[in-house]
Amino acid sequence: MRKEVVLVTGAGGEMGQALIRRLAEGGARNILALDVRPLPEAIIPACQIAIQGDLLDTNLIDRLVAEYSIPRIFHLAALLSTRSEYTPEAAHHVNVDGTLHLLKLAVDQASWLGQPVKFIFPSSIAVFGLPDRETKASAGAVKEWAWNNPATMYGCNKLYAEHLGRYYSLHYRQLAAEQPRNTVDFRAIRFPGLISAFTVPSGGTSDYGPEMLHAAAQKQPYACFVREDTTMPFMAMPDAIKALLLLGDAPREALSAQIYNVTSFSLSAREFEAEVRRAFPEAQITFEPDRRRQGIVDSWPVDMDDSRARRDWGWQPDYDLRRAFDEYLIPNIRQQYTGGKQTTESKK
Ligand code: SER
Repeated sequence: MRKEVVLVTGAGGEMGQALIRRLAEGGARNILALDVRPLPEAIIPACQIAIQGDLLDTNLIDRLVAEYSIPRIFHLAALLSTRSEYTPEAAHHVNVDGTLHLLKLAVDQASWLGQPVKFIFPSSIAVFGLPDRETKASAGAVKEWAWNNPATMYGCNKLYAEHLGRYYSLHYRQLAAEQPRNTVDFRAIRFPGLISAFTVPSGGTSDYGPEMLHAAAQKQPYACFVREDTTMPFMAMPDAIKALLLLGDAPREALSAQIYNVTSFSLSAREFEAEVRRAFPEAQITFEPDRRRQGIVDSWPVDMDDSRARRDWGWQPDYDLRRAFDEYLIPNIRQQYTGGKQTTESKK
């Protein structure tokens, strides 16, 4: 018998670590964590199996199919938007080919299991691409189908991966004599910028928010790489994990779509700075916009319309702006950098 596991890719990333902690606290004892880099020591005890490996390695994928029964996959591995612009082809390999390999793994698993495999995929605000700042200002909160013209390799990759997921769910091998009955139950969430109190992102373009906050808490100077008036939506990490789990657990019949926007609060970089200064009045924050990274955030909407997620699967963030800073970010960040007792992501 193959061992039944929940597969989490990108397990060592910001979202991966937070998800694994939450799953383990919810009683999951069968997490198979996969990451291209060694997993952080702190989350290894929460995993039943930890594999260091590359999704582009087809031998590894074959091994996973042969050894494990995988009814649920959280595919979090990706190169983020800034990082991807330095090596666009490498980003395509990881973000698209890696996803394709995993979708193939999922259909193979589904046919062994005799039931669809749940494939939960974090997509991104980066799939949207607004042509200029005037349009960004007038577009307001965008719906899922609007402005799907990404300006980054990462955004293109995420948008195409959404299409692949839909194809593998609904149309896979549609001309075969025998239609595969059980395929992939693909569900994607487009996240805004995410902010964790416990980890700092790497390689993203929304990173100015979390970087500013973590730098202030460590009494380090920070030069923000976007203009003060730059506005985009953000979300506290516990809400992002809540969204992944809620959508993963929603009954299929309740879902009118496969792709969902979620968001929590929108604010400008100046307002972000003000929040940071409320907690750390001595913060040394300056604004030194980088024209090119600025251009990326200027192509992202100021807000996302998440009414579809609210209607279909009861989405609602626990943390608005006030609660995010006062109850999650600031207390946990203070504790972390003043050497107090360590808490974990899921304890908020
Ligand atoms: N936070 C991501 C990035 O900046 C967006 O999905 O790349």
